[in-house]
Amino acid sequence: MNPPELAQRLHAAEAVSRDAGRLATRYLADPDALEVTLKGAQDVLTAADGAVERLIVATLRAAFPRDAFLGEEGGRVNGGGPDDACWVIDPIDGTANFARGLPHWCVSIALVVAGRTELGVIYDAGADLLYAATRGAGAWRNGERVSVSTTTDLARATVDVGYSSRTPVEAFGDLVTVLLRRGINVTQCGSAALGLARVADGRLDGYAERHLFAWDALAGLLLVEEAGGCANAFLTGDALTAGNETIAATPALYAVLVDTLAGR
Ligand code: IPD
Ligand code: CA
Repeated sequence: MNPPELAQRLHAAEAVSRDAGRLATRYLADPDALEVTLKGAQDVLTAADGAVERLIVATLRAAFPRDAFLGEEGGRVNGGGPDDACWVIDPIDGTANFARGLPHWCVSIALVVAGRTELGVIYDAGADLLYAATRGAGAWRNGERVSVSTTTDLARATVDVGYSSRTPVEAFGDLVTVLLRRGINVTQCGSAALGLARVADGRLDGYAERHLFAWDALAGLLLVEEAGGCANAFLTGDALTAGNETIAATPALYAVLVDTLAGR
């Protein structure tokens, strides 16, 4: 994909993320319209998730009809473009927070081209913060360049960790225990995409989770890399559809997180 085509897509992703955030926020004003259900234990779904994903896909498909789509709520739409461009969409990441009226949720959109994430946009609607990155062009928040933190001292570090029932409870407990023993403060904000965006802008020092899907992780991982941080090679094997472990951090903390997840 050439730079002008990528720039067009960045512009479209930024605009539709804001529209998506506004649509989701309108649902919050009417609790009856939210229709909160469970996909599984603690795996929340609301009517807003589907509506927001439909808005994003319809808008981007109209602009880029040959691109493919992979969304958390709608599955897959094949493309037909020459370079396998695929939009990877989480309409509301942090749905459990969203459904409770807690502010930690966001819209996350990535574009994968020939197996590599080239674009990532995350919109934190509650705080009106729009994060954007394209490969090689830095990470940006509301138009200002952001960088990962300079934290090197573990006693000053904060790492957000995620949990889902896709992985054993014990593995999560061990991860938290070891991080705390190493002196690192641990938070669990409940939105992986937002956690990664906050690593990119230096408000957190790292993010770790044993399994995420591509729609949770890809936009945020690109943001962290473009902000000068380190991220694991998520898109290996069948990770686009099956998901993978996710580790992202400042250069100083990355090896500590890798070792911790590997049980070293
Ligand atoms: C979840 C959130 C959560 C993470 C889970 C994800 P959802 O996505 O990102 O923070 O720990 O693994 O499934 O359900 O809110 O879209
Ligand atoms: Ca998600």
